[in-house]
Amino acid sequence: MSIKKLVKKSILSIKPYKPGKPIEDVKREFGLKNVYKMASNENAIGPSPKAIAAIKKGLLNINRYPDGNSFSLKKALAKKFMLRPENLIIGNGSDEIIVLALRTFINKGDEVIIAHPTFLVYKIASTIVGAKIVSVPLKAFHYDLDAMKKKITKKTKMIFIANPDNPTGSYVNRTEVEKFLKGLSKDIIVFFDEAYFEYITARDFPNSMRYVGRGNVIVSRSFSKAYGLGGLRVGWAAASKEIIGYLNQVREPFNVNMLAQIAAIAALDDKKHVLRSQKLIKEGNKLLCEEFKKMKLFYVPSVSNFVLVNVGYKALEIYEKLMRKGIIVREMSAWGLKNFIRVTFGTNKENRLFLKYLKKILKINREKEK
Ligand SMILES: Cc1ncc(COP(=O)(O)O)c(C=O)c1O
Repeated sequence: MSIKKLVKKSILSIKPYKPGKPIEDVKREFGLKNVYKMASNENAIGPSPKAIAAIKKGLLNINRYPDGNSFSLKKALAKKFMLRPENLIIGNGSDEIIVLALRTFINKGDEVIIAHPTFLVYKIASTIVGAKIVSVPLKAFHYDLDAMKKKITKKTKMIFIANPDNPTGSYVNRTEVEKFLKGLSKDIIVFFDEAYFEYITARDFPNSMRYVGRGNVIVSRSFSKAYGLGGLRVGWAAASKEIIGYLNQVREPFNVNMLAQIAAIAALDDKKHVLRSQKLIKEGNKLLCEEFKKMKLFYVPSVSNFVLVNVGYKALEIYEKLMRKGIIVREMSAWGLKNFIRVTFGTNKENRLFLKYLKKILKINREKEK
């Protein structure tokens, strides 16, 4: 008997999420000593030193199970963001909170509205739970909230808004969000994914925590980006006490490991590290975009720690050539953006190396085309 017959129907069409290529794989495949990863929107300066110190101390206790309720981390988050612990949930990365929300609220056939292209996990996780995906194209690389609102039907159960978006790095402002929420049925869960929140400097960025009181809004954030803890997997979300209660019913009892909890508490308190991360991103953004302009490459202005740039129809070849030089970026065919690559801002050295090789490769390509 074929196992395929046993697999849930909703799973069969799924294309698994393909993460950025790991450094060790590229070293091995191309025999390289130095490889730089600018592919997964990670923090190039490393983890928060305070988090490392806390982990070292905490290591002696890993014979015990973690606190399943993440009590101390919730307390620290509540204090920092002026929220109540009962309005918070901690996840194994904010990825897990996306999955938990879908598992909690979606019945087979419910509609989930998702922009296209956007963070791929929304579609994959929605498909797994049997949702009907209603896909709404971006408008000029920007979430089109008006068009998303128009797609609401009686079957709509959840709407995802990545703010800022990945892979474009664009954001929706307060006016757009408030217009979107006005008159919106409370029977629809609105999920604001703010994984890159700490990089935002735009004054018109919405304070989405204010919408939590509406009762149908979930706002998620991550420790993987500005705090530099991607490898530990910690994210969190704020929502009404009622929503948090149901998410907790679905959550696995020990979903966030002990070291992740300890490290996140320490990282929250590490203002110096967050400031350094923010500065690095600001500088990287400025440098890469200025150079793209000089190279006459179209890019999407980003408020995040990465940028989407059009390098032409040979994007896949360019991605591969960069990899041979030890620079891993993201090729965008999974998002249907065939002419683009997405580059995470790195250290100054990494940014300059990337630009050096990109210029070299493009010049070679352009000469060949003549
Ligand atoms: C928009 C968006 N949301 C969520 C995540 C997942 O973050 P985490 O590491 O907290 O699971 C990412 C990761 O790249 C992202 O780009």
